[in-house]
Amino acid sequence: MSNPVIECKHLSKTFQEGSLNVPVLTDVNFSVGEGERIAIIGSSGAGKSTLLHLLGGLDTPTNGEVYIAGNNISSLSENARSRLRNHTLGFVYQFHHLLPEFTALENVSMPLLIRGDEVSKARQKAETMLNRVGLSGRIHHKPSELSGGERQRTAMARALVIEPRCVLADEPTGNLDHKTADQIYALMLELNQDMKTSFIVVTHELRLAERMDKILKLEDGVLQ
Ligand SMILES: Nc1ncnc2c1ncn2[C@@H]1O[C@H](COP(=O)(O)OP(=O)(O)OP(=O)(O)O)[C@@H](O)[C@H]1O
Ligand SMILES: [Mg+2]
Repeated sequence: MSNPVIECKHLSKTFQEGSLNVPVLTDVNFSVGEGERIAIIGSSGAGKSTLLHLLGGLDTPTNGEVYIAGNNISSLSENARSRLRNHTLGFVYQFHHLLPEFTALENVSMPLLIRGDEVSKARQKAETMLNRVGLSGRIHHKPSELSGGERQRTAMARALVIEPRCVLADEPTGNLDHKTADQIYALMLELNQDMKTSFIVVTHELRLAERMDKILKLEDGVLQ
């Protein structure tokens, strides 16, 4: 069997606040296979964002290991970890994190340029992905000239343009109305089918979580 796209073993995270230890995640174990769609639910403060950050190699665990495409990320240099991230993972944040001074096309081209693609090729791929998310008429708009849903779709295009093996999304529809949220989920499922992209999506909405293959619940830092 091929390696899971992401796997974590005995993952724990404790934040230090002065002399106080604040345990946020305790012995979390799970893996995500190719094309698998996982929803993570749990109340505010349960540790969902912390878990996504650890899985994406954006933060380091207190204990345990994260494997991305079979690589134990704590054994990699910072450079190698960034490279692996830039080729394997796409991130969608709750608040889009688009760069305000750049157009949608430039924002979506960015991860490709960072990994060294030629400018013309990057623009072409970015344009194709923006078409895919239904934004062909908006590619030269800056984030402030886009609606909330359009910004989230741009952020989705930016995550997907590198054709990642897994997308990590933190409440990607947190601020959107039902109809727009449904469209974003439909888009994720379509790309999941077409590109075999795995998805790990944090959401507060059970209605949306139920569209995934599996629902994991975090409660007080423990996976239920
Ligand atoms: N850098 C930090 N230093 C100290 N404590 C932190 C830090 N980051 C997060 N925490 C604490 O860890 C706990 C989990 O935070 P986290 O952001 O993972 O929650 P969450 O499940 O994503 O919540 P929400 O649904 O509100 O986004 C919270 O109690 C938070 O205060
Ligand atoms: Mg959070």
